[in-house]
Formats: sequence, structure tokens, C-alpha cells
Amino acid sequence: ETKAIRALRGRLLWFVDDPDAAGDAAYRYIADGLLVMADGLIASVGEAAQLLATLPPGAEIVDHRPHLIMPGFIDAHIHMPQTQVVASYGAQLMDWLNRYTFVEEQKLAQQGHPEKLARFFLDELLANGTTTAAVYCSVHPQSAQAFFAESERRNTRMVAGKVMMDRNAPEPLTDTAESSYADSKALIARWHGKGRQLYAITPRFAVTSTPEQLAAAGRLAAEHPDCHVQTHINENQAEIAFACELYLKAADYAGIYEDFGLLGPKSLMGHCIHMTKREWRAFAQAGAVAVFCPTSNLFLGSGLFDWDRARREGVRVAVATDIGGGTSYSMLRTMAEAYKILQLQGQSLSAFAALHAITRGNAVALGLDHWVGSLEPGHEADVVVLDTAATRAMAHRLETVRDLAEELFVLVTLGDERNVAATYVAGEAIASH
Ligand code: GUN
Ligand code: ZN
Repeated sequence: ETKAIRALRGRLLWFVDDPDAAGDAAYRYIADGLLVMADGLIASVGEAAQLLATLPPGAEIVDHRPHLIMPGFIDAHIHMPQTQVVASYGAQLMDWLNRYTFVEEQKLAQQGHPEKLARFFLDELLANGTTTAAVYCSVHPQSAQAFFAESERRNTRMVAGKVMMDRNAPEPLTDTAESSYADSKALIARWHGKGRQLYAITPRFAVTSTPEQLAAAGRLAAEHPDCHVQTHINENQAEIAFACELYLKAADYAGIYEDFGLLGPKSLMGHCIHMTKREWRAFAQAGAVAVFCPTSNLFLGSGLFDWDRARREGVRVAVATDIGGGTSYSMLRTMAEAYKILQLQGQSLSAFAALHAITRGNAVALGLDHWVGSLEPGHEADVVVLDTAATRAMAHRLETVRDLAEELFVLVTLGDERNVAATYVAGEAIASH
């Protein structure tokens, strides 16, 4: 039996280390490279001149020259039920939740609506070159069921969970401590580790959970230490005041999650903008991940994430769109906004650091770097093909770039889904855009 072998030819770029630590040794760039894929995995990678001769007869070669070939992008925090909330006017976090988000999320109770959103959502992620994401579904168990079923059909590597919330939300959007535990447990049994699907225990945030529900979430995390935990923290001053008022015995906002066993190495903590010294320390000690959501933090007026501080405190950072608080599905656009947020604080972000963050960096932060985020043999063959000259303005600007670093900085600063020439999931091309 001969295996289907497909090889992509083009300019290969991927990371083997963090550019902040390893500099130029952090990346691999092959100007005329070949990426050989078989059985959904990367079989080999190298110079086209050498590898072409090793291909068996009948192997398919897709010539993507002169495009860039990179590992598929990873989005560490995004809300599936908010695809029709994005771009809602004039509110900061708590009003935005009440006026727009909690209204729209109720529609996922309607027959067929979660399925429709899941199809749109995965189409949109893949069109943007995003092949892995950590996804919030709605409070309805069928929203997670619909998402996982659609992701399994497409064979995408996804992390997702049913939101748990049992207070401070409209009644139709609330579960209970007991039902959220039982429903999450059933979804874990059904989906965690099924094909490429992974479960994230998802208490929305301390404001919308009773202590009983956070305890139930903590119990789930202890019973399923290989599942992620995802939640929100320290995004907005009114939110922080509300959370701390609800949990008077906690040391601070992070202390709430700590007290219930929800701050650990698999915890993806959305936002982390307004952090105390003790909270940074608690994150570092727990190995928890701070998830930076640039377009959301600007759009909701939440504040400026301090990446240098996280680095100094030894806290791992992931980056994310946070649709629909965020305003773009594109991880390129997301990093362009990250650059500006850091500029406002006298910090910087090279193109290599930005492209590392949305591939290997996020894979490491999610603990999935043995599977995704790299073109090294053995990794899953999730790939994005990028045309750096896709728009008139970018083609024009590229006339003056002198080296790879400058070209990549133009890509990160001006790029979006128009630059995605193709996306491959487990070695298979998805329908072109
Ligand atoms: N905090 C609690 N829920 C949410 C949400 O849906 N989006 C954002 N940005 N913050 C939150
Ligand atoms: Zn969010």
C-alpha cells in the first residue's frame, strides 16, 4: 500500500527556539525548500534540490514559490458565539457583555444555530491561516458539541469548552454548579483526546461563577489534569472591583482562581492587564499562561498589556484575537496591534518575535509544541502559505525591502487574510479562499 505523499515547495520559515533568547539561531529559513507531508504529518523538510530526488514516483508536488510556507497560526483565546458580536459600538467590558454579548449568546439555544456558527467560525479561522485555537463556546452544552463535531469533520487540532456561568448573567444563559460539572464531564468523556480534539474547562470568569461553581471547575481540573483551564482575569477596573467584592476572602483576583485550584500550568488566563506584583508571582509559581489579546484590549479600552513585565516575572505569554471583543480574526493583524501596544510602553516586537508568538510560541504556551507550531518532521502537517505581496500596497512597499527581516515586518504590520494563499490541515489543502 502506497501512502499519499504531498510536498510543498516554497520559502520555508519556522522556529526552533524563542528569538528573544536565541536570536537568529531561533529560526530556520530555506529560500528554496521542500516540505514533505504523509499521513497528516511532516515527513521531511529541507532544501528542494536535495529532497526532490528522494520523493517516490507519484508523489504530488505543489509549487508555492515564491510564497512563504509556515506552520499554521495558533489563536490562544477566541469566542465562537461572538462572530455576530464583533464590532459592537460604544461600551467597555461590563456594558459590552450585558448589552451585546449576553444577548447574542442566548441565540445558541436555538436549534441549528451553534452548528451554523461553528461552520462559519472554522471557515473563517482557516481562511486566516489559523489551524489551532483555544475556543470558548457558550453555556449550552450543544454549542461545544456542535463545535467539536465540526472540528472533527475538518480534522483540525482544537481546544474548546462549554462556558460555565451560574450568576450575574441573564437566566437563560446560566447553568448551575452541578449541571456545569456534569455537562463538562460528559463533554470531556466524549471529546477530549478524540482525534485532534482537546477539552478546556471554561469557567467564564469569577464574576459569573459562584464559589460552588469555581469549586466544581477546580474539581474537574484536578480530575482531568491533562485538560486546559481557560478564563478571564484583570481585564478592566470595574470587572476587577466586582470580582474582588464577590470574593472578599481572596488575596486578589488571581487569588480567587488559586483558592479553587484553577491556576496551574494548563491555565490560559485571558488579558492580565492590571496585575499586582503578588499576582505576577502567583502566575510564575503556578506556571500559568497570560494571554495577550491586543485588538480586544484596544477596542474595549481595557488597557495595555505589559509583555516586558511578564518576561521579567518569568510568566509565559500567549497571544490571541479574543473575537468578538477583538476586532480581527487575523493573527497577523493581531500582532500588528501588539506592536503598537508595546510601542506605547517603550517596548518593541520584531517580526521574528511576532511570527514566533503566533506559531511555536503559542504552541509552547498551550503545551502542544510536540504536535503543532513547527515544520520539524513528526509534527502535524498544519501549514499556512503566505503571499507577502498580496495587496497593491504591500507589493509596492516590498520594492524597497532589503532583507528577510524587513519583508517579514511588512507582512506582520500590513498583512491579514488577503495574504493567506493556502491553508493545509493535517496535510490536506482546505478549499481555497
Ligand atoms: N470577560 C468575561 N467574558 C468575557 C468575554 O466574552 N470577552 C471579554 N473580552 N472579556 C470577558
Ligand atoms: Zn475572551
